[in-house]
Amino acid sequence: MKIGLIGLGNLGTAVANLVAQNGYEVLGWEYQSAVVEEINTQRVNSKFLDGVTLDDKLKATTEITAVLQECAVIFVAIPSVFIKPTLEPVRHLVPPETIIVNMAKGIDSKIGLTSFQTLAGILPQQRLVMLSGPSIANEFARGLPTVVMLAGEDRRELLVVSRILDNDHFRTRFSDDAVGVELGGILKNIYAIGLGMFDGQNVVSVNFRAVYLTIALEEMARVGVAMGAKIETFLYLAGIGDLLATALSEHSHNRHLGERLAQGLSREQIREEMGVLPEGYNTLKSVLYVAEKLHVSVPLAKGLWDVISGRITADKFITLFIRDFVE
Ligand SMILES: NC(=O)c1ccc[n+]([C@@H]2O[C@H](COP(=O)([O-])OP(=O)(O)OC[C@H]3O[C@@H](n4cnc5c(N)ncnc54)[C@H](O)[C@@H]3O)[C@@H](O)[C@H]2O)c1
Repeated sequence: MKIGLIGLGNLGTAVANLVAQNGYEVLGWEYQSAVVEEINTQRVNSKFLDGVTLDDKLKATTEITAVLQECAVIFVAIPSVFIKPTLEPVRHLVPPETIIVNMAKGIDSKIGLTSFQTLAGILPQQRLVMLSGPSIANEFARGLPTVVMLAGEDRRELLVVSRILDNDHFRTRFSDDAVGVELGGILKNIYAIGLGMFDGQNVVSVNFRAVYLTIALEEMARVGVAMGAKIETFLYLAGIGDLLATALSEHSHNRHLGERLAQGLSREQIREEMGVLPEGYNTLKSVLYVAEKLHVSVPLAKGLWDVISGRITADKFITLFIRDFVE
């Protein structure tokens, strides 16, 4: 069985290499031809996963057709905003029995759908699985222990995907709450931006981090439940687990966005520096909109947006947070 990847960025390369090390032939589509060339000739991806030697069973291509037609299970690892333009024009090439595993954690703000919903709309006949949970690619790519959640309608698909991924250091657990598993992964990106802001301002108190993360989890769960998730999903790996990993990891792009904002850079400067703004940025905009429609109170998310849009400084946000939330 050949396994496919859509996107050989940081996460896509780490998962592709994990699956190749587990003994499968892997074919990954990548948008950037220099990355494809480097993977195939030098067995590294210095742009997205520097310092990791890639398994010989992993091959890269710029031809998406080959991945869609040859692979029985395909993992999607591009930011949400690129899913529709990448897959919609070629959706007729995907055989109906192919299993699609979504790993993108975001909302396409242009169409207002989560990445899982976007995929379900593009590929309505396909069996879809959501993979989420604390899974910093730079860590599990180096063999550090990682446990993630798989969610989908049918346990048979989850078993197929778990057999491809599981090994001594990377394990999967199942959930029947696909909405909650996806929303945990999406929403925590917003709050990781906030923790990055505190770090950027050198607010490094552990007490304070605990307060912030507790309030963030509570707000995440409130939004998630209003959007159809189960509360218990937020108390496990796809909720609190992913929030802690992303908010505390030095590798998190979302947390990095918060740090750079706190250091005084504008949104445009950060976009230039990072190439693309991390998922939490678009998610924040979409969640504020959805929260208004569903009458859900999200004061923390609103405060973060005020900083990102330049209405208040990160310093002011921190003062307000302490005054309004921690009294
Ligand atoms: N990196 C992680 O540890 C991690 C963990 C869990 C989930 N995720 C999620 O995975 C997704 C990808 O994140 P990442 O960190 O791997 O990102 P990345 O920045 O490392 O890689 C981005 C990928 O998108 C591709 N891309 C860029 N522009 C494109 C375009 N116009 N059309 C199509 N593809 C394009 C790049 O070539 C690359 O393959 C995000 O939704 C993220 O939230 C990442």
